[in-house]
Amino acid sequence: MAARIERLVTSGQFSLDGGTWDVDNNVWIVGDDHEAVVIDAAHDAAAIAEAVGDRRLTAIVCTHAHNDHIGAAPALADLTGATIWLHPDDLPLWRLTHPDREPDAHLVDGQVIEAAGADLTVLHTPGHAPGAVCLYDEGLGVLFTGDTLFQGGPGATGRSYSHFPTIITSIRDRLLALPPGTRVLTGHGDETTIGDEAPHLEEWIARGH
Ligand SMILES: [Fe+2]
Repeated sequence: MAARIERLVTSGQFSLDGGTWDVDNNVWIVGDDHEAVVIDAAHDAAAIAEAVGDRRLTAIVCTHAHNDHIGAAPALADLTGATIWLHPDDLPLWRLTHPDREPDAHLVDGQVIEAAGADLTVLHTPGHAPGAVCLYDEGLGVLFTGDTLFQGGPGATGRSYSHFPTIITSIRDRLLALPPGTRVLTGHGDETTIGDEAPHLEEWIARGH
């Protein structure tokens, strides 16, 4: 049985540089009837655990360590025994939210996280955050982008630990090179495709965000 993709939206707050904003986050669950992985344990461990149900949760993959994407990761790991994965370049951000609990394992560019027959290849795509990653499954034709690429452009780069030229390089070299029909499943909001976003790269560079 092929892996399927489920979306759960959870609500909470994003805080950085002294500001706080209300946000809705997409929590992606990739799996079958027996096992699953979660991409971004945002805000509400109980709601995510309920969506996973009695399946074995093998991994919690963090696309980056902004607090809205990782807030519920330790609690969900404690509930399920899943391994928390984070790119080590985001450990300074992680420690702002969870100073007493490190992630369990470090993501590496090119690594494959398996999920019920899905093969999620890790693409290190810094810019929104130093350790931001995307997860690409060629067979499913999907790319999980976290906050690196949205419908309408790049993720925000105006706050600490972000860098606009770096996110543009990541998007141009790693993401827009993927097949145009690839579904882009984002950390917030509605999905898009590589083919819908690629023509707008020069506009984003010109406007600077
Ligand atoms: Fe973010």
